[in-house]
Amino acid sequence: MSLSPATGLDALPAYESLGLSGAGDGLEQFDHLAAYRSLGPIYQLRFRGERWVAIGGMDANEAAWRNPDQWDYQEALSPFREMMGPTHVTQLDGDPHRRKRRNLKPGFAMSAVFGLIPAIDRSIAGDLRASAGQSLNLHDFFMIALTRANSRTVLHCDFDDVTAAAFIRFEEHFIRGTSMGEARHAHYAAPGFQADRALVFAFLGELVDRRLAGLSAADNFQAMLDERRERGEPLDRDELIPEAYLLLMAGTGNTAKLLNCGLQYLTEDPAWLDRLRAELAGYAPEKLLGGMGAFPLLKATLLEIERLFPAAPVLARVVAEPFEFHGHTLPKGTKVLHLQTIPHFLEEIYADPYRFDPARWIDREYPKKSQGTFGGSTHLCLGINLVRLHMPIAIGNLLRDYELTLGERPRISVNVNYGVPLVADLAAVFRPRPPG
Ligand code: HEM
Repeated sequence: MSLSPATGLDALPAYESLGLSGAGDGLEQFDHLAAYRSLGPIYQLRFRGERWVAIGGMDANEAAWRNPDQWDYQEALSPFREMMGPTHVTQLDGDPHRRKRRNLKPGFAMSAVFGLIPAIDRSIAGDLRASAGQSLNLHDFFMIALTRANSRTVLHCDFDDVTAAAFIRFEEHFIRGTSMGEARHAHYAAPGFQADRALVFAFLGELVDRRLAGLSAADNFQAMLDERRERGEPLDRDELIPEAYLLLMAGTGNTAKLLNCGLQYLTEDPAWLDRLRAELAGYAPEKLLGGMGAFPLLKATLLEIERLFPAAPVLARVVAEPFEFHGHTLPKGTKVLHLQTIPHFLEEIYADPYRFDPARWIDREYPKKSQGTFGGSTHLCLGINLVRLHMPIAIGNLLRDYELTLGERPRISVNVNYGVPLVADLAAVFRPRPPG
């Protein structure tokens, strides 16, 4: 990368100069791919009444992930602090963030979740059996099934269907608001949401109280508590409640969205689906204990779903220390949209990038910096290991044992925007496959 002398923000090319429309569907939608191609890897735009700078492409990923301390997560991710409290991981910076990630490791490291594969499988398989033949909302089904699987593995607890429904309403409404800017305050003020929130926090608070009073369980939460006790770290109720939330339900909406998108595109590719089903005829959870090696087509399918349908394709950032990129210096306080998934859609990296083509991953690797679905660097998605177990277990069971019929609408399409949700309301029925 050659740097020309540093210039101010005014010298940045402007999105508005492209004459593209900037709004649709009541949401602020931008064509960042067109802008990247025309304006290059850094440009400015008016977004929610303010000036933002967008950065995208391989160089942007390299620069953004090189040094996490150049970003002010506390400022950029304040909605998480408002909802979950001042110790919540997502909005921490520097040493407090490093300490927090270390404390969360016994809950989320691959070594901590790997052995749970058989139990996760039993839980998801049971939920599929119980719902077979019914017409259901696929997204809600997965969110509940994944949350229930978490309640039987990483954070042992019992909850009934009414509580489960309140949990997923809370999670969806909460996450939706985190990318709404100032409009989140009205969004979160909705009485229904306030009631769900009270229920979720009361449920998790009682659970934490029982653990602090000495009740022990053979789960990842206990491992987190025990390790912290051994290190002599204090155990604080208000800090533990959002940690219990992370274990029980965080991110399940995103995983459910990827499953929705993936299944819609898979069912439209009968040739690949047949091959995948043939591979999955031999699916058994124990085979995943050795990694994905026994399932190369499933692995390729999941990587392609991650590439084409990243649930959080753009990340909001605030500059903490002057950030130099492609000859421009962004001063402290600049609001940045990091378009970390732009490389997913570049022809020079992924041939025919809008095509759902799992075969592209067979016997082929792509650069790490071209994969932004889970973010990068020290704030890399905490749940990535769980997602990479939940997805193959869900699809393995589903395609081995069921015929899936999906409602044709709504059509899911590629979407590289900040805060514009992927479709979440596909109708589905799965019916047991005839044996053999
Ligand atoms: C397919 C599903 C998922 C996707 C696409 C996804 C995506 C992401 C992305 C892009 C980030 C980076 C955010 C940033 O840098 O601002 C992130 C962070 C995070 N994710 Fe996920 N996520 C998923 C599932 C989960 C799950 C299941 C959990 C469960 C705990 C989870 C918990 C987190 C947390 C706590 C962070 C913040 C980490 C930190 O700041 O240190 N995610 N996720």
